[in-house]
Amino acid sequence: MEVVIVADAAAQGELVASAVAELIARKPDALFGVATGSTPLPVYQALATKVGAGQVDVSRLKVCQLDEYVGLPAGHPESYREVLKREVLAPLGIGDEAFLGPDGSAEDLPAACAAYEQRLADAGGVDLQLLGIGTDGHIGFNEPVSSLASRTRIKTLTERTRVDNARFFNGLDEVPRHVITQGIGTILQARHLVLLATGAGKAEAVAATVEGPVSSMVPASALQMHPHATVVVDEAAAQQLKLADYYKATYASKPAWQGI
Ligand code: PGA
Repeated sequence: MEVVIVADAAAQGELVASAVAELIARKPDALFGVATGSTPLPVYQALATKVGAGQVDVSRLKVCQLDEYVGLPAGHPESYREVLKREVLAPLGIGDEAFLGPDGSAEDLPAACAAYEQRLADAGGVDLQLLGIGTDGHIGFNEPVSSLASRTRIKTLTERTRVDNARFFNGLDEVPRHVITQGIGTILQARHLVLLATGAGKAEAVAATVEGPVSSMVPASALQMHPHATVVVDEAAAQQLKLADYYKATYASKPAWQGI
């Protein structure tokens, strides 16, 4: 695992946007897996700046979704499809036709999950997948004790995740209980995984992910099984890492983005 410790969220955004820009330069029709949540926003902003400046051409880029709430009506502003349209597609000038996501309002949810897996495969697989991390160690909405081989499926959110996400709704009661999420096995098929975390609240989950045992109790620890996983954290999120000095000496100046 590459562990890159950066000063702050702005530096994180700039670094990861550069990696995405390099990918697009090398593969203009890449499939870019995006994540919702607060953490990746500086990445999207930095990427939008590069697109606006004419440094990155996203006209052939495809974008895909990691997870989605179940049961929100189509067009609900907090459905992840709508969030990603606002935060990623619109600022980058990417149209809906280049966007892949699961249908959280489908009548037949298992069929919607299977259809989404197929669409990802048909699109050639994910080239770079951005990941946030939950305070409980989840990636996507793969909560603790998710199968490390899981595929896209329906999951039930933990109370902790619902509380964490209540800030986007008018109170906890409105936060859906069920979701569709790419499975951990699905996520591990992406060619490059980039996990982002900022703030002391993520320090415990980050340390367990990077330096703890691989365990379904910490779903993000499955990244240890991936041949090219990069963890980009600020100083606060890095504060429980035992080998922080080693990571700084090894990866701080030039992370090995090559070989995606
Ligand atoms: P956050 O969410 O970026 O808003 O902290 C991360 C997650 O729950 O995966």
